Amino acid sequence: LGAPLVLGIESSCDETGVALVRGRELLVDAVASSMDEHARYGGIIPEVASRAHLEAMIPTIQRALGEADVDLSQIDAIAVTAGPGLVGPLTIGASAAKALSIGLNKPLYGVNHVIGHAAVDELVHGEFPEHVMALVVSGGHSSLLLVDDIATDVTELGSTLDDAAGEAFDKVGRLLGLPYPGGPHVDRLAREGDPTAIRFPRGLTARKDQEKHAYDFSFSGLKTAVARWVEARVDSGLEVPLNDVAASFAEAVADVLTAKTIAACQRHGVETLVVGGGFSANSQLRDMAAKRCAEAGIDLRIPPIRYCTDNGAMIAALGSAVVRAGVAPSGLDIPVDSSMP
Ligand code: KG4
Ligand code: ZN
Repeated sequence: LGAPLVLGIESSCDETGVALVRGRELLVDAVASSMDEHARYGGIIPEVASRAHLEAMIPTIQRALGEADVDLSQIDAIAVTAGPGLVGPLTIGASAAKALSIGLNKPLYGVNHVIGHAAVDELVHGEFPEHVMALVVSGGHSSLLLVDDIATDVTELGSTLDDAAGEAFDKVGRLLGLPYPGGPHVDRLAREGDPTAIRFPRGLTARKDQEKHAYDFSFSGLKTAVARWVEARVDSGLEVPLNDVAASFAEAVADVLTAKTIAACQRHGVETLVVGGGFSANSQLRDMAAKRCAEAGIDLRIPPIRYCTDNGAMIAALGSAVVRAGVAPSGLDIPVDSSMP
């Protein structure tokens, strides 16, 4: 007891997530996903996702309360993803959170989804040290955050200029004829291949780009390079070595992500790196980050995968930090912002 009990609601993409956090303790994390409905379209359909959130929201809230044996009246504050994300899905979560805030007469906090991906690690590995670097990588985002205080002082050092890391994997998966979402399939193939077989380009690493985009990422050129390479093989009547293509592509993505992240840690004197977002399941990234962090003397923290994919715990964790920091609640008129920085 002591710390306020915060209910967190996440609905920015295809997961309806509801969780309860007290301080840095997670009481329950309930998630409903509409991914199965999107898989047959080969991508997230916002309207389908919105409807799924609408149907799942109240049952998921009820499930979370039931599993934690908590009554609505015990909740001290409500946190909700205000952005970035899909505007329809965000609106469903925000409307539910506003209704609870009004009904229970408890404060509402709109929080940032990407920062939530970093915040959730405090529930797993404990309070952050003074400076933390966070690499948030998923199908929707690839961002490098300097976290001086998770509730009040987060600076985005860089982000992707085009595709997110998971999105690039999904596109390469489609190119290689793999089911959607392709990321995990490409990962599996890559583990059987030779990462040095093909030298694919590393985006934004040339000297002129380093000046302007030292901590930004770009994966769209890489994806095109993979497509060209595969086409050339097919045109020449040669077999496409799927394992080697996957491994060389995955190597290029992991190389750029880890090299830029570690350079940022060194530049900012940061000794702790948190990796979050659904793409942190990627084996090539995990292996390379572990190796390079060990070499650089950086403490690497990656939450278990269920807390890396979208969930309510990340929003409740960030909400709890914001409440504890004494930040003023959001007004009930708080808008959702699909492109929130
Ligand atoms: O966080 P998440 O569940 O949803 C988004 O907010 O995007 O991230 C899922 C993304 C998808 O693009 C998926 O293909 C990719 O992460 N992904 C992977 C792996 N597991 C998930 N990509 C590569 N290797 C994996 N093992
Ligand atoms: Zn996410």
